[in-house]
Amino acid sequence: MSELQTPYYLIDKARLRGNMEKIALLRERSGAKALLALKCFATWSVFDFMREFMDGTTSSSLFELRLGHEEFGKETHAYSVAWADHEIDEALGYADKIIFNSLGQLDRYADRAKGTTTGLRLNPRFSTSGFDLADPARPFSRLGEWDTARLDAALDRISGVMIHYNCENGDFDLFDHQLTRIETEFGDILGRLDWVSLGGGIHFTGDGYPLERLADRLAAFSQKFGVQVFLEPGEASITGAATLEVSVLDLINNGKDVAIVDSSIEAHMLDLLIYRETAKLPQDGTHEYQIAGKTCLAGDIFGEARFPQPLKIGDRISIEDAAGYTMVKKNWFNGVPMPAIAIREEDGQVRPVRRFTYDDYKGSLS
Ligand SMILES: Cc1ncc(COP(=O)(O)O)c(C=O)c1O
Repeated sequence: MSELQTPYYLIDKARLRGNMEKIALLRERSGAKALLALKCFATWSVFDFMREFMDGTTSSSLFELRLGHEEFGKETHAYSVAWADHEIDEALGYADKIIFNSLGQLDRYADRAKGTTTGLRLNPRFSTSGFDLADPARPFSRLGEWDTARLDAALDRISGVMIHYNCENGDFDLFDHQLTRIETEFGDILGRLDWVSLGGGIHFTGDGYPLERLADRLAAFSQKFGVQVFLEPGEASITGAATLEVSVLDLINNGKDVAIVDSSIEAHMLDLLIYRETAKLPQDGTHEYQIAGKTCLAGDIFGEARFPQPLKIGDRISIEDAAGYTMVKKNWFNGVPMPAIAIREEDGQVRPVRRFTYDDYKGSLS
């Protein structure tokens, strides 16, 4: 392992297995199918491992769709906020189901989609997101249809709907309450469908989540409307399953001890910056440091950490919970080396699976 230069994302298969086993249990007890949301995690080197526990993938673009079809297989759902004319036929070639975001897109492409199971995104106009930026129910949201007349107008061409309205929701009672609201407000429509996807955002692999209650609730929903239920777990599939491994490059004190590492929150863990969260850093010991990235962005700061010993140049730091919305969002800002990707096998061996070089940086521009 010593030859693998930091920074790198390290996927831990034993931890991934923990999440996968919970997904398998949920599927078995509820009858729901679980599709990996590639927008969150698309590191295809572990798809062989995940495939055994999940039913397939769902996507947000042609490229994700193609990756899911090529590398994961099984059931492939195609969703996009908007398909382009030049994409739709290729998309249909990969998709087992195509889900349109608007009645306009359904009208435009339903004829070409004949022969492929078709659905529409339904926006229930409430969600569990407290963050406007990520709230599909925000005012004037473009994410799905809610008007019953418009949904009715689609019913002769669709056999299901996708309803994504949860956001890292670890509160089963809230989930239960909101699902009841959906049953009440949209029951007439749901009863005329074959399948319903409840999207992602349910934090059911978290510690202490009442998985069996969720399974029973999903089974009851499925029976009530006679529908196959799908879930689209992104974060829940991979939560806690990877770290970002970085090294200390410099130590400074401008009134506070700061460790500058060979990575960047903006380039390698962008979501934390967007949602104003701090990274999960070591917190054992009395030596406190601010852990900061190496880009020119003044706020390129991972957060505060504690260590048992003072840090030295070259020390390694593991940043926890680095699987979701990291590798899919990494970028070349400041030309900072892009983290490699490595897998820790269940026997403890670490296997590098991807390195990025100057040529990749150069090749991303012209
Ligand atoms: C339609 C849809 N499905 C699934 C997901 C995955 O959500 P999560 O990673 O929170 O489980 C998202 C996230 O934005 C989404 O928009």
